[in-house]
Amino acid sequence: MLTNKGHAAVRKLRQKYYDLFSKFYDRFIAMHASDKQGVLRDILAEQAGAAPGDCVLDICTGTGAALRPLAGRVGAKGLVVGLDFSSGMLGAAREKSRGNDRVCLIQADCGRLPFKTGVFTVVTCSHAFYELKGATQVNTLNEIKRCLKPGKPFLMMEHEVPENRLIRLLFYIRLISMGRERALQILKHEAGFLKQHFRQVRKAAVVTGKSKIYICT
Ligand SMILES: C[S@@+](CC[C@H](N)C(=O)[O-])C[C@H]1O[C@@H](n2cnc3c(N)ncnc32)[C@H](O)[C@@H]1O
Repeated sequence: MLTNKGHAAVRKLRQKYYDLFSKFYDRFIAMHASDKQGVLRDILAEQAGAAPGDCVLDICTGTGAALRPLAGRVGAKGLVVGLDFSSGMLGAAREKSRGNDRVCLIQADCGRLPFKTGVFTVVTCSHAFYELKGATQVNTLNEIKRCLKPGKPFLMMEHEVPENRLIRLLFYIRLISMGRERALQILKHEAGFLKQHFRQVRKAAVVTGKSKIYICT
């Protein structure tokens, strides 16, 4: 069992890991998710159904790939908030969103969202949920439900387990190397896990065949 100091040290280390990862993250993800044209986040924004005037939250936004397509949907009166705990990732997201005044970036832990209750019309999370550590997954789902307006959706986009054996091996090694035994459990029972937190969980296929989206209300 870790003390509070121990948890803080592990969290700092993880932030550093993501700060470093931010330097080559976009190239890595385009390869891993077979998304060289960058359509994945357009699909996420479309499935999110965000409309003009909406207030959208993208947690674990990373380099902010989902922010532009989401901002395109909320229009001049809407707002898209990108949240991440890594300053490196947020730096890359800032570059990508430069000049887009509908986008706002916040550095915080997704297990403790710094927002009032019931303010967001949609919450999205792409390719990040499996990487959340231990209790942070459940805390994050509780926080998402708290921050969503009643009946509004949470969309979780994740990698399908790769079919290619070598890539599948690398995929598992990456999860395990980050201490993700629980992630492996969730990979196998993810819909059931989400159903413990949401009344409706629907899976939408993604054209690349390498990712999937769960739409939870
Ligand atoms: C694999 S990246 C996904 C980035 C982005 N959503 C995408 O689709 O490209 C995971 C992101 O989650 C962030 N992250 C991990 N744990 C977090 C936490 N507890 N609170 C906030 N962000 C976190 C990391 O900094 C990283 O940017």
